[in-house]
Amino acid sequence: MQRTFAIIKPDAVQKQYAGRILARIEAVGFTVRALRMIHMSKAEAEGFYHVHRERPFFGGLTDFMSSGPCIVLCLEAADAIKKWRDLMGATDPAKAADGTLRKEFGASIDNNATHGSDAPETAAFELGYFFRGMELR
Ligand code: CMP
Repeated sequence: MQRTFAIIKPDAVQKQYAGRILARIEAVGFTVRALRMIHMSKAEAEGFYHVHRERPFFGGLTDFMSSGPCIVLCLEAADAIKKWRDLMGATDPAKAADGTLRKEFGASIDNNATHGSDAPETAAFELGYFFRGMELR
C-alpha cells in the first residue's frame, strides 16, 4: 500500500464539487486516511508550492490557493500516487482525458479542481506539511 497527498482546490470547493469528487475517490477504491478543510494563508501556499517559486505562475497560483477553503487529504491504495494522478487527469483540464476529475470539474490550468503529489518524496513532504503523525491513521 502507498499513501499520497491530495487537495480538492478552492475552485472545486466553491462550486460545491467536493462531495462528487470524494465519491469518485471512494468509488475507485482509495481509503481516506486523513481529511481536513483548511484556508491557507498566502505564506502557507508559498511554502507548499516552494518548488514552483521561480515559475511565472507562482504568484497567481499562491493567490488562488489562498483565496478560499480547500480540502486536504491523505489517500491510500496500491500505487496511490499514480492512481490519483490518473483519476485527476492532465494538469490542464483542456488536455485532460474524458472521465478524469479535471476534465469534469476543472475550468482552466489555474482552476483545475485538484492537486496530487507527483513522487514518493513529494508525497512525504506534502503529507507532512498538512498532517501531524497522529492524524494519519
Ligand atoms: P498542481 O498540480 O496543483 O501543481 C502546480 C499548479 O500550478 C498546477 O496544478 C496548476 O494549477 C498551476 N499552473 C498554472 N500554470 C501552470 C503551468 N504552465 N504549468 C504547470 N502548472 C501550472
